[in-house]
Amino acid sequence: MKVDRYRELANEFDQWANTERTSSMANGHWDVTMQMLDGIDISNCERAIDVGCGNGWLVRELLRRDIASGIGVDISPQMIVMAKQTSQFVDRETYMVANGESIPLPDSSVDCVTNIESLYYYPQPQDALDEWARITMAGGRLAMMMDLYLENTATHNWIDALDVPVHLFSKAQLKEMLEQAGWTNIQMTQVQDRRPMKTEAEFVTSQYWPSYEQYVSYRETGSLCITAVRK
Ligand SMILES: C[S@@+](CC[C@H](N)C(=O)[O-])C[C@H]1O[C@@H](n2cnc3c(N)ncnc32)[C@H](O)[C@@H]1O
Repeated sequence: MKVDRYRELANEFDQWANTERTSSMANGHWDVTMQMLDGIDISNCERAIDVGCGNGWLVRELLRRDIASGIGVDISPQMIVMAKQTSQFVDRETYMVANGESIPLPDSSVDCVTNIESLYYYPQPQDALDEWARITMAGGRLAMMMDLYLENTATHNWIDALDVPVHLFSKAQLKEMLEQAGWTNIQMTQVQDRRPMKTEAEFVTSQYWPSYEQYVSYRETGSLCITAVRK
């Protein structure tokens, strides 16, 4: 049963990989992720990992911010193909297909972990937070972002719209899970995208965005950005 959930995720995101959905996700997540990274000190980080990396855009951004090497992992083989194809820092970027709950890296081998709009898909999210704590050295940083969370009611219809099961976490639940995994200095902020909202005339409804009001509510509520430090 559990194995099927992982195969289902890989198959689902393999289908997303070869569509414009992947670049539009990267673009959609860009601004709040930049605000989150600007708010933490990663100047001493040398080896970062982006879990659920999609096309690898954040790995490349971390390298542009002078982190020496970056690893992207994703459960979808096609996402990893895309990430490799768009690689820009040949010697510094590495990508691999892996489940974010079980990453083939030694203990304490990275000092920065990022995870953008990905954790709520994982069948065993606590295992993922534990696993990231295992591979991160003491003092290492975690930066996580998600739009689907309990306090952001405008996104709750995604739960039915998506073709794979997802978790709906509250901020309190996430904090407890992070603490249990060994993360400390946990900061949670709802961050609004600074770019202009679409006008009603520009807005197009879809199964994810059934109304303009819902889109406005989502933009006003903001993305949940979480940062933490490895104990
Ligand atoms: C909504 S996309 C976000 C991709 C990317 N972080 C971005 O911001 O563009 C979610 C990503 O998480 C990946 N993913 C889902 N479940 C995963 C798991 N158990 N382990 C690793 N990656 C997973 C998917 O394949 C997909 O690339």
